[in-house]
Amino acid sequence: MSMLRLRGFEIHKGYLDPAAQRALIEVLRPILRAAPLFSPAVPGGGKMSVRMTSAGAFGWYADAAGYRYVDCHPKGHDWPSIPQPVLDIWHDLTGLERQPESCLLNYYGKDARMGVHQDKDEADFSYPVVSISLGDDGLFRMGGTRRGGATDRLWLNSGDVVVMGGAARLNYHGVDRIRFGSSRLLPKGGRINLTLRVVT
Ligand code: SIN
Ligand code: MN
Repeated sequence: MSMLRLRGFEIHKGYLDPAAQRALIEVLRPILRAAPLFSPAVPGGGKMSVRMTSAGAFGWYADAAGYRYVDCHPKGHDWPSIPQPVLDIWHDLTGLERQPESCLLNYYGKDARMGVHQDKDEADFSYPVVSISLGDDGLFRMGGTRRGGATDRLWLNSGDVVVMGGAARLNYHGVDRIRFGSSRLLPKGGRINLTLRVVT
């Protein structure tokens, strides 16, 4: 991977051991009950292949009108709060006082993927993005800040945590595919990615 693309990009391989991964899944269960997964629409037509929900003051949302943060679940109720063990990961890896305002939960089933994009719906890019991988392996694609530029690919495994900050905060990234069934963390298989962000 080029050093330029790496600057501000940190990968903490195996940051969460198996017990910590299982504990995190337990605190996510009530979120999934209170704020069920939904399939966001892609502006321009169709549905995303990932299903998602959020915790925190804001959840990320997409429909025909575009991408944005919204302060409630599509069914109308507030997003659940971000569990403390998730906040602890943010504070440990960023050292920031300020709390993330959004924890996006993406669920990747067998054929789910995420196209290459920048995270740019937030007001202040000086705050990093922290991304936690749980369950099946995901083939992560990362480029620089130029659309269509060179990209590198790396497998993210359960328990890995990625931080994109500094010069890497606006790096293009996506998930090409998952290795369905490669982990036994989730009883029905699949991959969960948690993305923590300051929004306002
Ligand atoms: C995202 O960019 O929203 C998700 C990244 C990932 O699933 O690792
Ligand atoms: Mn993203």
